[in-house]
Amino acid sequence: MCGIVGYIGNKQAAPILLDGLSKLEYRGYDSAGIAVYNGEKIDMVKSKGRLKVLDELTHGGETLPGTVGIGHTRWATHGSPSDKNAHPHFNKDNSIVVVHNGIIENYLKLKKKLEKKGYKFVSETDTEVVAHLLDYYYNGNPLQAVTKIMHRMEGSYALGIIFQDHPDELYAVRKDSPLIVGHTDGGNIIASDVPAVLKYTRNVFFIENEEIVRMTRDTMEFFTVDEEPIEKESVKIDWDINAAEKGGYEHFMLKEMYEQPKAITDTFSPRLKDGNIVIEELNMSDEDIKAIKKIMIVACGSAYHTGITSKYVFEDMARLPVEVDLASEFRYRRPILEEGTLVIVISQSGETADTLAALRESQELGAKVLGIVNVVGSSIAREADNVMYTWAGPEIAVATTKAYSAQLIALYLLAMKFAYVRGMVDASEMEELIRDMKALPAQVEMLLNNKGKIQRFANRYLAAKDVFFIGRGIDYAISLEGSLKLKEISYIHSEAYAAGELKHGTISLIEEGTLVAAVLTQRDLYKKMISNMVEVGTRGAFVLAVTNEGNVEVERAADYVIYIPETNKYFTNSLAIIPLQLFGYYIAIGRGCDVDKPRNLAKSVTVE
Ligand code: F6R
Repeated sequence: MCGIVGYIGNKQAAPILLDGLSKLEYRGYDSAGIAVYNGEKIDMVKSKGRLKVLDELTHGGETLPGTVGIGHTRWATHGSPSDKNAHPHFNKDNSIVVVHNGIIENYLKLKKKLEKKGYKFVSETDTEVVAHLLDYYYNGNPLQAVTKIMHRMEGSYALGIIFQDHPDELYAVRKDSPLIVGHTDGGNIIASDVPAVLKYTRNVFFIENEEIVRMTRDTMEFFTVDEEPIEKESVKIDWDINAAEKGGYEHFMLKEMYEQPKAITDTFSPRLKDGNIVIEELNMSDEDIKAIKKIMIVACGSAYHTGITSKYVFEDMARLPVEVDLASEFRYRRPILEEGTLVIVISQSGETADTLAALRESQELGAKVLGIVNVVGSSIAREADNVMYTWAGPEIAVATTKAYSAQLIALYLLAMKFAYVRGMVDASEMEELIRDMKALPAQVEMLLNNKGKIQRFANRYLAAKDVFFIGRGIDYAISLEGSLKLKEISYIHSEAYAAGELKHGTISLIEEGTLVAAVLTQRDLYKKMISNMVEVGTRGAFVLAVTNEGNVEVERAADYVIYIPETNKYFTNSLAIIPLQLFGYYIAIGRGCDVDKPRNLAKSVTVE
């Protein structure tokens, strides 16, 4: 995730910026840069790669003298990782410089308008729009220019800004992307995250949405977007650096689970426009979409599970046949890809060796490949014919949570788009689906906030030997992921079964006290599922049910029930997975496992 640091004070800014950015390295980034006002003009150095490169290029900051500066570590979103896309970004005459976290959703529209007015863009980023927009509105009053661009920009942003002709000031502003500021000994500092400032201060001001900060060496003023001054109270931070890196959460996995509402919103919101789904990066006309005869989804692990969910969604909603395969199987089975088959590969890292090989195999067989990828500029993103990014931000915990949730959203969006174009969903149905999608972030948050109930339940099963997950349809796909989350981080043996398969062998494993987690979110399958639950219950299983609010009928067959809020039948995975992620997490920490780095696993599987 991108990181911001800014400093104005009596000390040299560059070493403080480099030091602050180094405290944000753990968040993941692909390029870095700093800009410092040298007494006459703004100097800037930026480069692709590690912070070490920047440190060497600037001799630890020595070659950028000056006491006002901004710095940035970039996690690519718009535009690949490169020197020119790295932040900071200048306006046309290098007199305004900007660092930015977040996504300017209407940047293409703004860019076109600015280009018409003669502005030239040197990068592919959305951030450069901010620098030129500031230039456009700037008439000697920085605060006014900042408020004006805030009225024009849609999306999320935390910004650090320096105006060359106001060199004793540093500006910062935020909307839906975190930003803090603090007084230090002999200066003031801004940062996107607490770890960057801990060495300099423990008293920070959390900037709220649409608030602006104007700082000098010794003053700090806060304003609303209407330029009204605001009073703010500082907050004392007691976290040590370890806790600060995790935003105060005990583990990255928990932090990332809590980032799911944002990952979901960031993935759908740029693609919902005026009641329609617009996926520009698909590069497909309605005619192209209508010509698709079959979808072949290929992925590994959790990404494969999102593929299975989407099979049910695509087939039911868009009436399009879908085949889902594990990349490691697909690549060696001489697959048949008939004309009209769209191959979709799904990958968080974009580097998974089997998925990449499956992509290449598909292209060799003449198919067009759409990548659903989280890491911008990764191998899969580069090689796929088209890329639809999930905007989950970097995932640090090995077990995926927020990228998984973002993948589901990307797949729902595609299914909705295809269904609409193919005439399987009408405008009013689309309106309802979009309404339900927009409700998901708050519903996920609510489920996360009920974590205490799941923790108490998990604590009873710390010594479990085998846990089975069962479900039908989409609930089977949810079960697969719930089971993987549990086993990969807690090392408890677990399997997921299509509930109807129990009788064909698995049921012999059920004995007194075996935990069976039953997922039932599909109304038309409630009865069948309840019968399966009764079957295992009568053989001594303890049955945990995850079901929709109001399905009290389930209580006659379950020993413990977790209810999820109401949504449509297609999106239930996004909600039902939350208690299952929490269940795996709490079992694992109860057993003393290293949840963020489970044994034998790597975040990115770049070898076979
Ligand atoms: C499980 C998990 C893995 C990945 C799989 C694919 O929590 O993270 O199963 O989903 O290794 O990785 P990507 O999505 O990077 O291709």
